Amino acid sequence: MKDLTPNRADLDPIEIASIDEIRALQLDRLKWSLRHAYDNVPMYRQRFDEAGVHPDDLQSLSDLAKFPFTFKNDLRDNYPFGLFAVPREQIIRLHASSGTTGKPTVVGYTQRDIDNWADLVARSLRASGLRKGDTVHNAYGYGLFTGGLGAHYGIEKLGATVVPMGGGQTTRQVDLITDFKPDGIMVTPSYMLNILEQFHKVGLDPRACSLSVGIFGAEPWTDSMRAEVEQAFDMHAVDIYGLSEIMGPGVANECVETKDGPVIWEDHFLPEIIDPETGDVLPDGEMGELVFTTLTKEGLPMIRYRTRDLTRLLPGTARSMRRMEKITGRSDDMIILRGVNVFPSQIEEQVLATGGLAPYYQIELYRAGHLDAMRVHVEALPDAADELSKTAAARMLSKRIKDVVGISTEIDVGDPGAVERSQGKARRVIDNRNS
Ligand code: DLL
Repeated sequence: MKDLTPNRADLDPIEIASIDEIRALQLDRLKWSLRHAYDNVPMYRQRFDEAGVHPDDLQSLSDLAKFPFTFKNDLRDNYPFGLFAVPREQIIRLHASSGTTGKPTVVGYTQRDIDNWADLVARSLRASGLRKGDTVHNAYGYGLFTGGLGAHYGIEKLGATVVPMGGGQTTRQVDLITDFKPDGIMVTPSYMLNILEQFHKVGLDPRACSLSVGIFGAEPWTDSMRAEVEQAFDMHAVDIYGLSEIMGPGVANECVETKDGPVIWEDHFLPEIIDPETGDVLPDGEMGELVFTTLTKEGLPMIRYRTRDLTRLLPGTARSMRRMEKITGRSDDMIILRGVNVFPSQIEEQVLATGGLAPYYQIELYRAGHLDAMRVHVEALPDAADELSKTAAARMLSKRIKDVVGISTEIDVGDPGAVERSQGKARRVIDNRNS
């Protein structure tokens, strides 16, 4: 793989500033953000008043712990524009979640918010090893999802050429990658596997294609998946993290030279890790729920937003800013099976470690009598699809999950193509417990 380490001179100075300088900037910006939220959003004013806190009470960054949390439901309760902190005419872009349960959540951006977002995605791409003059194939979905347009503006801001492909049309994806010869690709990791499969279908060697880096996010993916994709394409695979409520893609991004967890762009977002049960702030290094406060957002300031993502904060390495450990789960995705907590990513690791199996999987939960049970759907690789190999792979995977994760599962090894393919964010768990 090519060495893609960016030149230090090309980084934003704040990325490598001293910790003192970063904390001082955060304190200034945090004061502004709390004041902006309190003065312009009725919900924040009411919540702060009820909690007996005022923006003037913040003297140091740790004083933030006195302020109340914000939850996803607060966006729903104030649907569509109730949490905007500027008049609607100053909002130049809206995005929204699909809203599988209840109302969608709507987010809005001012011109300055869009500019900052583009800057941070450009910074993320630079950290990933891309530079001005490169070509980037963007296969994140366009439209109300923040992935497509968020990535798009950042690619342009970097001075690279964007191929605005969007999700789906897998045959076309491979044709365009072959013909336009992009240096980088932005896509969900699960959809990248779909693209990989198409390379094989048409008899093209993925290792011979032009891609030197993939920037993968929008869903959890493991280091085992990183190794799988890096090996298959002979390219770097780096992690991009973000969420619509805080901005979209580019809240944090891994550095290609270290690949040790996404660096949080702390000049715009202040992270905290809390105990999800008690709400207490935990010290850096401890696992808990990630909470973000926006420091510069005008349209939709978020104060102590509960992401539900589980991770821990780690000290800076390639940059001065703190990193987050690669996210392997959300509290919403945690499966409790007979008292054992399981995340889909733990199953993913074992699937990828089992010989004869393709990297596609889906977890089915069902009731067996009075107990919950798990069935893992996987599929055989084309050259291991005979019954004997399938049975051996099933036995091996079941043993691995039992030994490493500690639960008994039923394994269903299908023929190549049996497992549902992802077009964007993969659906990892099917819950049939109540059907
Ligand atoms: O998924 C924004 C995004 C687009 C990020 C493209 C990266 C690339 P939402 O649809 O609001 O926004 O979903 C946000 O997705 O809270 C995490 O649970 C999950 N997520 C996002 N990035 C990662 C990642 C976009 N790198 C939710 N690793 C977040 C693990 C991720 N989970």
